[in-house]
Amino acid sequence: MHASTLVGNFLVILLILSFCNFVRPDDNVHVSVKNRLGSGKNLTLHCQSKDNDLGEQIVEDGSEFGWDFSVNVWGSTLFYCDMGWVDVQDFSFVAYYFQRDYARCESQCSWLVSGEGMYGLNGESGFWEFAYNWSS
Ligand SMILES: *[C@@H]1O[C@H](CO)[C@@H](O)[C@H](O)[C@H]1NC(C)=O
Repeated sequence: MHASTLVGNFLVILLILSFCNFVRPDDNVHVSVKNRLGSGKNLTLHCQSKDNDLGEQIVEDGSEFGWDFSVNVWGSTLFYCDMGWVDVQDFSFVAYYFQRDYARCESQCSWLVSGEGMYGLNGESGFWEFAYNWSS
């Protein structure tokens, strides 16, 4: 075997290792959507990715729905949800997108649905950030 082939192989292995380390496919992410609408309002929630349909859920006032997954090696993991309740019939949002969220909420991505809008937990700062306004 030529020395140059050996060096080439070594570089390819290094490249693969650093790529895997960047995307961290073993890391588990937990996403949750909390119903804080109040007045006993039920939330209908339906979340899915390209490969996973989590089904339609009824999230009662005060409870939450959550799920765990690993991000794929391509960094394209995306979950979106459709939800509705008495006041807002149909609202869609991206619950997790690796490109947007790998730093913002590395392992814990929490959403809170309230009467005025939706909040997302920023894992970096530890603060709930106002994300969506129903009236806009
Ligand atoms: C909310 O959902 C629960 C469980 O599905 C149901 O028993 C209850 O009647 C619902 N409440 C309202 C206000 O629709």
